[in-house]
Amino acid sequence: MENMTKVPVHVSMIMDGNGRWAKERGKERVHGHFEGVESVRACVEAALETGVKYLSVFAFSEENWNRPEEEVLALMGLMVKAMAAEMKSLDRNGVRFIVLGNRSRLSRELNAEIDSCMEMTAGNEALTLIVFLSYSGKWDILQAAKKMALDLLEHPEKRNAVEKMGVEGFESYLVTAGIPDPDLIVRTSGESRISNYMLWQGAYSEFLFVDTLWPDFRKEEFRKALESYAKRDRRYGKVK
Ligand code: IPE
Ligand code: IPE
Ligand code: MG
Repeated sequence: MENMTKVPVHVSMIMDGNGRWAKERGKERVHGHFEGVESVRACVEAALETGVKYLSVFAFSEENWNRPEEEVLALMGLMVKAMAAEMKSLDRNGVRFIVLGNRSRLSRELNAEIDSCMEMTAGNEALTLIVFLSYSGKWDILQAAKKMALDLLEHPEKRNAVEKMGVEGFESYLVTAGIPDPDLIVRTSGESRISNYMLWQGAYSEFLFVDTLWPDFRKEEFRKALESYAKRDRRYGKVK
């Protein structure tokens, strides 16, 4: 991208405002979710064009299971459809597709679709698209701690290694192991909160809160977000 001096490696989106977008148009909430898929496609294209290597999107939180059953079912159905519809084109464009979250809560049908998409695109390198599904930051840290505890129970000889473990060692238990922390987290729809997203991984992320509702967040908004990021001064606690 022209004038783009600092391109973030990993951009993450808290995709919010689908329901309000639909309501503004006198439509059911699900129409907003439907239109939101178009925004994901636009952001994938923009990421490929600008050289962003990881694009992640928060699609469904652990807390979102508490929504009315009808909306949850509509969202899950939409995920299956969107994955089936988009995968060939993602693959053609060199996109590796990954889903992270509490997959034990997802339906067999959705899990099968996810497996097939992940297998199909596993070797792609242009961009990694991560969909966070049934994910929450506290859940991630908790499942990591449990995995570590169980690992230690099974292999007591690891005690010394666990005692000496640093941040990176613990990160290998998080579902995001191997994925760089997000450089930029964008939240749409005017809400200024993190809603239990990437609590660990976002420790030093730059945040951008925009009023745009997710279904209206397209290429131009993506590019603007990157421009805002390029102006940030990341100090990591040091003096510059
Ligand atoms: C984001 O849009 C999509 C999900 C959280 C699944 P919302 O559905 O939260 O839309 P608003 O915030 O009610 O407008
Ligand atoms: C955050 O949006 C979760 C996702 C974008 C998937 P919500 O709409 O669920 O967040 P709250 O409830 O307003 O905090
Ligand atoms: Mg919302």
